[in-house]
Amino acid sequence: NKGKYDHYMQKEIHEQPESLTTTMRGRLIRGGSCKAKTVLLGGLKDHIKTIRRSRRIVFIGCGTSYNAALAARPIIEELSGVPVTMEIASDLVDRQGPIYREDTAVFVSQSGETADTLLALEYALENGALCVGITNTVGSAIARNTHCGIHINAGCEIGVASTKAYTSQIVVMAMLALAIGDDAISSQARREAIIDGLFDLPNKVREALKLDQEMKDLAKLLIAEQSLLVFGRGYNFATALEGALKVKEVSLMHSEGILAGEMKHGPLALVDENLPIIVIATRDACFSKQQSVIQQLHARKGRLIVMCSKGDAASVCPGESCRVIEVPQVEDCLQPVVNIIPLQLLAYHLTVLRGHNVDQPRNLAKSVTTQ
Ligand code: F6R
Repeated sequence: NKGKYDHYMQKEIHEQPESLTTTMRGRLIRGGSCKAKTVLLGGLKDHIKTIRRSRRIVFIGCGTSYNAALAARPIIEELSGVPVTMEIASDLVDRQGPIYREDTAVFVSQSGETADTLLALEYALENGALCVGITNTVGSAIARNTHCGIHINAGCEIGVASTKAYTSQIVVMAMLALAIGDDAISSQARREAIIDGLFDLPNKVREALKLDQEMKDLAKLLIAEQSLLVFGRGYNFATALEGALKVKEVSLMHSEGILAGEMKHGPLALVDENLPIIVIATRDACFSKQQSVIQQLHARKGRLIVMCSKGDAASVCPGESCRVIEVPQVEDCLQPVVNIIPLQLLAYHLTVLRGHNVDQPRNLAKSVTTQ
């Protein structure tokens, strides 16, 4: 039931404040004045110590689920101190890449039925790794065949393009980082700030959803373009990949997410006054580097659309021709959850304006159960 919405994708984008609340329900504990704030992930409780002691954490997934893991990677590394590597499921199987008994392999899949991810799971099980599932589907093959796991509880996702599952996956993995990170005094303030940030995240997402009309106006400007680049780095490299994936899969416009640190190693050659480029430059440790990327793109007459934190428009915009998307600021590791919202809205409006099928993009299926 689409309710008051025209499409499932639109409904699922707008229900993210609620789906995120459901994802966190009962899992975040904000103790009294002397009690610490903590995270409870029931499905993992017998395995947390093993995960904490593992030699490496390997995230495995496809498409949007892979991107969600990429967004969570830095905070898992920071809080756990365990090296994290990323694997696209099909590529791990193609290479028969090394997976060891001392590894924790985390399988991220909305449907829990993706053939490539399942094959990678079989492979990791054969190699003796501890296998953890993060899925949205209770009773799915990945939920059944992993040693333990976490359900994201985002509610049924019908639109082929994944939206609310993406943000819930990131939140679950941020909670995973808090659960496996040690409770060192040195990181206590950071951990508490993240927990407070999680509590407030649905409100911040609600605020970001108010960009709807602005994103529709931007979509009108971009409707006839051939291509759209999205530059991000750090926590928001994943946002760049995921924003571009949304745009290409539903609006059928070519779009590419680019790691901004790689700009000078090739992509800069594409920059001219016609190609639209979104640069994600919200406040975090990479902010000044992104400011310099903006300056360099501007010097080459790039057609810039800058996503920045609220109040930063004047300081990030190099010239009058630059458009801005201002988003509410949250704890840096949670910023990808907010930043993807305007890009989901942009992909949605571009698709409707270009006259394509929003919920069933050409050639795609919701659950890819064949290789
Ligand atoms: C993109 C999209 C796909 C899926 C991918 C993995 O919007 O939906 O990229 O994310 O096919 O699917 P799951 O998460 O079900 O394993």
